[in-house]
Amino acid sequence: MSIILKTTDLTKKYGNKVVVDNLNISIEKGEVFGLLGPNGAGKSTTMNMITGIVKPTLGGVEFMGEDFMKKRKSLMDKLGYIPQELAIHENLKAWENVELFTSLYGIKGSKLKQRIDESLEYVGLLDRRNDFAKTFSGGMKRRLNIACAIGHHPDLLVFDEPTVGIDPQSRNFILDKIKESNRKGATIIYTSHYMEEVEALCTKIAIMDNGKVIATGTSEELKKMVKDDISDITLEEVFLTMTGKKLRDY
Ligand SMILES: Nc1ncnc2c1ncn2[C@@H]1O[C@H](COP(=O)(O)OP(=O)(O)O)[C@@H](O)[C@H]1O
Ligand SMILES: [Mg+2]
Repeated sequence: MSIILKTTDLTKKYGNKVVVDNLNISIEKGEVFGLLGPNGAGKSTTMNMITGIVKPTLGGVEFMGEDFMKKRKSLMDKLGYIPQELAIHENLKAWENVELFTSLYGIKGSKLKQRIDESLEYVGLLDRRNDFAKTFSGGMKRRLNIACAIGHHPDLLVFDEPTVGIDPQSRNFILDKIKESNRKGATIIYTSHYMEEVEALCTKIAIMDNGKVIATGTSEELKKMVKDDISDITLEEVFLTMTGKKLRDY
C-alpha cells in the first residue's frame, strides 16, 4: 500500500506550551486511521496542521508525495475537512451552504447543481435542501457540515470528533457513511475520545496523549502491547495502562 499522508516531527507550540510534540504518523491509502485521545491531547491541533489551517512550529506534512505546505493550493481539492467546530452558515439554506463550499473548488454550473444534491442526499438531507441551517438539530448541522466537505470528491476525508453532542441516530448514520465513503475508495482520518467508535471504525489506531503519539497499531496489536490474553481487555484499559489516566470521565 502507498502512503497518502505522512507527518515528520510535526510540532506546535503556543507560547511555551508544546501542544503537539514531534508527531510522526503515516496514513496508508484506503485506510481508516483513528487518532484516539482524551480532550486536550492535541488531536484538533494536529488535524488543523494536517489540513493547512494552522501552521506548524516545526516539522512538515507530506500529502500525496508532495510537501503540503509548498503545494497546498494544488492539493487542497484532494482533501475534505470536517472540523470539530461547525463551519456552516446558519442564515443560509442547506443547499446554499453546500454551494458555498463546493464552489470554492472551482466547480460550476450544472456540475455544481448535481454535486450539491448528491452531497445532500449522501447525508440524508436532500428533502431539507431549501431549509435554513438555523432550523436544523445538532445532528443535522453535523451532517450538513459533512455535505459541505465532500462535494469536490476528495481522496482524503478528515473527521474531527464528528459525533460529539449529537443524537444516537445521527451518530450511527455518520459512522455508516464514513464506512461507505471508505468502501468507495476514500482514505479516512478520524479523531475521537470514544474508544468504541474508534475500535468499530478504524483499521489502524494511534493513541495520543499530551501532544504525543504513544502507540500505533490495530486494536488487537495495541491490546497485545499491554496484555497477552486480550479476550477481555478494552482500549480504555490499554490507555489507562499506558498513561495511568482515564481516556474520559464517566
Ligand atoms: N490557539 C490556541 N492557543 C493556545 N492554546 C491552544 C490553542 N489551541 C489549542 N490549544 C491548547 O492545546 C491543547 C490541545 O488542544 P486540542 O488540539 O484542541 O486537543 P484535542 O482536540 O485533543 O481536545 C489544549 O491544552 C488547548 O488548550
Ligand atoms: Mg479536538
